[in-house]
Amino acid sequence: IAASFVPKRLAGQQVLITAGPTFEALDPVRGLTNHSSGKMGFAIAAAARAAGAQVTLVAGPVHLPTPRGVRRINVQSARDMLAAVQGAADAASVFIAAAAVADWRPAEFAAQKIKKDGSGQVPGLTFVENPDILATIAASDRARSGQLYCVGFAAESDNLLAHASAKRLRKNVPLLVGNIGPATFGQDDNTLLLIDDQGSSALPRASKTALGHALVAEIARRLPSVGG
Ligand code: CTP
Ligand code: CA
Repeated sequence: IAASFVPKRLAGQQVLITAGPTFEALDPVRGLTNHSSGKMGFAIAAAARAAGAQVTLVAGPVHLPTPRGVRRINVQSARDMLAAVQGAADAASVFIAAAAVADWRPAEFAAQKIKKDGSGQVPGLTFVENPDILATIAASDRARSGQLYCVGFAAESDNLLAHASAKRLRKNVPLLVGNIGPATFGQDDNTLLLIDDQGSSALPRASKTALGHALVAEIARRLPSVGG
């Protein structure tokens, strides 16, 4: 019932969202990942759907139910996530990068499980940088011409405003959302700092569900085709 009272601010919009961690395999039984719960991205997907959008959610490995009416694509690695996002970006009018993408992956994937050799020697792991999904999409023609509105997130341990403002410019996105405060991974509530070309403003501490709705409203009023 509550959903029917959400204004349909995103009717006619196609919203593409990344959520959760990525998993970068090292061998068939091991890999590199992080503690992202996916809750914020899933809450945004549900809120965008409630606001009338068609929603595609590209999700890393998380055990969360798919929000009703949302198309979900499950992926593991950053490269898989990029491919899924690129496959859906042409149809999208909004892209929200809420995933905690692993910045690096093991340089090599061992097709067989890496075994101890009994001598106490440890494997010398090397890493390579993953593609930046948000920056890649933000650099596309559709994003640059304003047909695809891109929203980034920033997880910082200190100096949020300065780091997030710099990140917004570096990634070339109109809106960057910072997580305020310590470790929000896995928590049910959060505080968000919105940074755009007008400056910054905070969304007060609330559940991720409520923040999803608030953020969707903030995005909707910034869309050239919707307005405030
Ligand atoms: N992001 C992405 N692909 C990556 C890394 C990050 O799409 N390979 C996106 C995230 O989903 C988020 C934004 O970029 O929306 C910022 O991610 P963050 O990890 O805060 O920034 P990085 O650019 O990776 O820089 P650092 O981790 O060093 O602060
Ligand atoms: Ca990162």
